[in-house]
Amino acid sequence: MKASQFFISTQKEAPAEAEVVSHQLMTRAGMIKRLGSGIYSYMPMGLRVIRKVESIIREEMNRAGAIELLMPVVQPAELWMETGRFQAYGPELLRLKDRHDRDFVIQPTSEEVITDIARQELRSYKQLPKNLYHIQTKFRDERRPRFGVMRGREFTMKDAYSFDRDFSSAQKSYDAMYRAYCAIFDRMGLTYRAVAADTGAIGGDASHEFQVIADTGEDAIVYCPASDYAANIELAEALSLIAARASPSEVMKKAATPGKSTCEEVATLLDLPLHRTVKSLVLATDERSPAGDIAKTTVWLLLVRGDHSLNEVKASKVEGLKQGWRFATLHEIDEHFGTPPGYLGPIGTRKPVRVIADRTVANMSDFVCGANEVDFHLTGVNWGRDLPEPDVVTDIRNVVEGDPSPDGSGPLAIQRGIEVGHVFLLGTKYSAAMGANYLDETGKPQPMIMGCYGIGVTRILGAAVEQNHDERGIVWPEALAPFTVVICPIGYDRSPSVQQHADELHDQLTRLGIDVMLDDRGERPGAMFADWELIGVPLRVVISDRGLKEGQVEVQGRRDAAATAVPFMGVSDFLKSRLTA
Ligand SMILES: Nc1ncnc2c1ncn2[C@@H]1O[C@H](COP(=O)(O)OP(=O)(O)O)[C@@H](O)[C@H]1O
Ligand SMILES: [Mg+2]
Repeated sequence: MKASQFFISTQKEAPAEAEVVSHQLMTRAGMIKRLGSGIYSYMPMGLRVIRKVESIIREEMNRAGAIELLMPVVQPAELWMETGRFQAYGPELLRLKDRHDRDFVIQPTSEEVITDIARQELRSYKQLPKNLYHIQTKFRDERRPRFGVMRGREFTMKDAYSFDRDFSSAQKSYDAMYRAYCAIFDRMGLTYRAVAADTGAIGGDASHEFQVIADTGEDAIVYCPASDYAANIELAEALSLIAARASPSEVMKKAATPGKSTCEEVATLLDLPLHRTVKSLVLATDERSPAGDIAKTTVWLLLVRGDHSLNEVKASKVEGLKQGWRFATLHEIDEHFGTPPGYLGPIGTRKPVRVIADRTVANMSDFVCGANEVDFHLTGVNWGRDLPEPDVVTDIRNVVEGDPSPDGSGPLAIQRGIEVGHVFLLGTKYSAAMGANYLDETGKPQPMIMGCYGIGVTRILGAAVEQNHDERGIVWPEALAPFTVVICPIGYDRSPSVQQHADELHDQLTRLGIDVMLDDRGERPGAMFADWELIGVPLRVVISDRGLKEGQVEVQGRRDAAATAVPFMGVSDFLKSRLTA
């Protein structure tokens, strides 16, 4: 490829809205172009990277036995009504009507359509297992599209769906996908971690996320450096930090804490460590009558240690909160506690509340909490003596760095990650809702056991750049780079010898199947080098009259500190030796 025949549109400045480096660099390198919030055109340079991502995914999916098909972007709402997701899916689901006033959706994912195909096509146990996938445009009307292609509204996803006759076979399909994902991200040259994940609204039994490690990641990954324990913080189990509750040593006292409404402020004022305080959070659940009106509201007081934070995903799994909860209103808080937030506690509430204590809180003694009186807290509080035992004791907090690993292997560490892939064992959630049954050996209909497996194709570009860049621009891993070698001739338009050697090397490398770019634009060396460093091509060959006098050219890897002089005669062998693929 010659630059004059390609489309290069590098820019000096990043757009003002680009908060993270990948968004800035991908825009400056001319890979993406914003059309609207969370909607991008993939420019020729960026599309080349997307195609490489897709082909690695295709090869590994096919190798793992999955079969490619292509399902529509616009899908009739009827199918989504069958699973209840037309109503249940939030505003992320883009709903639209056609000219006949019929409802449609723009797919955010394709469980409904693939299950519809499966129930028509997969009728006998003899046809199972099957794993079908496509690489297709998705639309999710994200509340906060941001970070360029990492959280877009329109994006490309590879989604695969497996169909099995029983759970042990489904587990094998899941394991095969897990291994394929490792192969995919290994080949892409990304540093990643597979972590146990919450199964969320989609439901199901087993789930792992593939997280590319990067400080700007939206997810917190909890792992144990001494073992293979790794989980999303949403799921990572927090053990009690106090093995057994000590007996009381203080009497309960009311302490004046004027204007001090946070645990930090109270601990400072009372000159106590933060881990002696307890934080109160108030939730509410509503029971509805058959007509849909609120018949009864229950108020819940959740207690976590002052230095801990509530984990909302865990709270949502507690019996009684499972059906859905909300934060209590100020009015409800006043009604039950007689005091505004900041001075709330479990002792002396006006109306009964259900008390859920985190495991650590349940083992605390002589602790500090709000007194249910403005400007006052209680100290020396003890379970059993000053207040009844909590109604529920369970894990409702986020793990913090240094917590003991649930597998007993030592302290936990936390790092940030970007979710690029997700594997789920779904079970029968969709097959049961849509009647996707097969006939077993005895002719009896059985629901198919499903798994679903997503990879954020376009998000991978952003994640790869977050992980691989420097002050000059992108440093693509070789497998993803839009071009693997760029030839930069000095004076291409002036020197016949430079032009002839550059063209010759370009043709040689093309014949070898190497993705080579020849920059024949006649740019000044500084500007030309800056462009290709910004774009992030792994290897650069500089051809100049001065070098050619010695029969040499200069080769420099994108991460190399200096260039290497290489005889022109041997340069294609040298380049091959520097490339892994
Ligand atoms: N808004 C988005 N923009 C880009 N990629 C996305 C977006 N949402 C999801 N993805 C990608 O698609 C993959 C599968 O999505 P899924 O797990 O269903 O999404 P989520 O975790 O947001 O519910 C994710 O692992 C991620 O890589
Ligand atoms: Mg996910």
